[in-house]
Amino acid sequence: MSKTTKKSSGLSTDKNWWRQAAIYQIYPRSFADSNGDGIGDIKGITSRIPYLKSLAIDAVWLSPFYPSALADGGYDVDDYRNVDPKLGTLADFDEMLAGLHKQGIRVFVDIVPNHSSNLHEWFKEAIDAKPGSKARDRYVFRDGKGANGELPPSDWVSHFAPSAWTHESTFGGKNGQWFLHWFAPEQPDFNWENREVQKDFLKTLTFWSDRGVDGFRIDVAHGLAKDLSEPFRSMPVHEGLEQRGNKGKGIWGDRNEVFAIYKEWRKVFNQYDPPRVAVAEAYVHPERLPLYASTKTLGQCFDFRFIETPFEAAAYKAATQEAVDLAKKNKSSCTWTLSNHDQIRHATKMGLNPAVERRDWMLSNGTSHPIDMKSGTQNALAATLYILGLPGSTYMYQGEELGLHEVTDIPEKDIQDPQYLRNLKVDKGRDGCRVPLPWTSSGSSFGFGSGGAHLPQPKWFADYSVEVEEKDSLSPLSIYRKALKLRSELQTKEDIKWHKTKDISVLHYSRPNGWHCITNFRGHAYPMPKGEILVASSPLVNGRITAGTTVWFKKK
Ligand code: NOJ
Ligand code: CA
Repeated sequence: MSKTTKKSSGLSTDKNWWRQAAIYQIYPRSFADSNGDGIGDIKGITSRIPYLKSLAIDAVWLSPFYPSALADGGYDVDDYRNVDPKLGTLADFDEMLAGLHKQGIRVFVDIVPNHSSNLHEWFKEAIDAKPGSKARDRYVFRDGKGANGELPPSDWVSHFAPSAWTHESTFGGKNGQWFLHWFAPEQPDFNWENREVQKDFLKTLTFWSDRGVDGFRIDVAHGLAKDLSEPFRSMPVHEGLEQRGNKGKGIWGDRNEVFAIYKEWRKVFNQYDPPRVAVAEAYVHPERLPLYASTKTLGQCFDFRFIETPFEAAAYKAATQEAVDLAKKNKSSCTWTLSNHDQIRHATKMGLNPAVERRDWMLSNGTSHPIDMKSGTQNALAATLYILGLPGSTYMYQGEELGLHEVTDIPEKDIQDPQYLRNLKVDKGRDGCRVPLPWTSSGSSFGFGSGGAHLPQPKWFADYSVEVEEKDSLSPLSIYRKALKLRSELQTKEDIKWHKTKDISVLHYSRPNGWHCITNFRGHAYPMPKGEILVASSPLVNGRITAGTTVWFKKK
């Protein structure tokens, strides 16, 4: 018997809605603050449902809102089946979900299965328990090396810290062992061979699905199954994509055993009508993406290739064609992404000379090289329209509809991200794309709330505020709204056809119903082909498409 989503919703009945959806990522702590404490919350999201509706999106994805001490922006979860009291209650969540559903907007929540936080009940129990106990087996505890176990069990490195092992005494343990953490020490890795761990996640997926959640974004989906056979293989530098792609035999990433976990999850998803869906965050070799995107496992997998593709015609065409071919071959759908909460905002990347080493530039607080914010925003919008026209789903990140830039000059005292705090002076981290959104051009936090903002907002946020952009029919927000609405009306079969252009800097493709998209990446203005213009990312000049512009048009 399948469990059906409540009928009161305004959701479409199409079971394949996710194949070509527009999904908007909300970073809850930075979206809207309802009670003036400087932290975005669930009621804040609910209060902005009319705004979300105005974007004509199909779904929102909420980054973690669970109880967390925020060692990693909420990706350190204390309790998977609750709402952080600083962000609201489960009742607030239900109200938000019902409100979004009523407006036809589906909801994805973030599942973080690779690790819990150190404050999770199970980890606290494990720290107090003896080596070899049931409680320790839910995580990965091992004896250290050296005469007295004073050295970590292996040379493995984590994303944020030099070692992937931390001595249990850090959190008060008295048994001299070390525990594994792929990310920060406050994010201990689960032992996914443990049946209790496996069953608990089935319970979490059921918990949210029963509440009516439509889909799940799976954090570090490639990382759950690890090779923990001893002696541990050596890995003094972080495992790269090639190693992970080693036919599913890497140490940490992308091992074949991970799919047994997702096949079991699929059974939960398919108990619902419509079936729940999932998208994997899997940093794997592109050839391995289809294994995560299979309808027997998670169903969809982010394709991150456009995050690093330079804004150039040849590179965009090659990336598009590769992704489309891969999806076709595997009967999956494409998943385009330009930005998310882990990346420098794409408007900023596109306003910076591509030769600039971005990590160093960020460390200089954005001062070592000039940035052209205007052309960055313009190119970003052109890239977005290019991507929104393609077959498949598009995942967008809050603020990109405003053409928002990265905040590069967050003072050291305000930085929250472990990517900086644990890697001091090597990486500025990801706070710059997580600064609370500007809703108005004035006010203590530009309308984010009635108090301050948990990360400092720069003065220039005023010009990018919703209030300012709503009044301008050529603003990024106005063009996003127009394009997303058109996209939902124009959506058609998952095919694409390329058309020849007279300039190597111009790409032109169309979809089966005569929906055309043309982008001029750089150089001379290009004559607009014949057809009815639907939307342009920047105005045409004398009937020509200028550099950094995408136009959608229709041919009869
Ligand atoms: C990926 C998330 O997107 C990122 O923000 C987080 O730091 C890591 N996974 C660890 O959970
Ligand atoms: Ca709040």
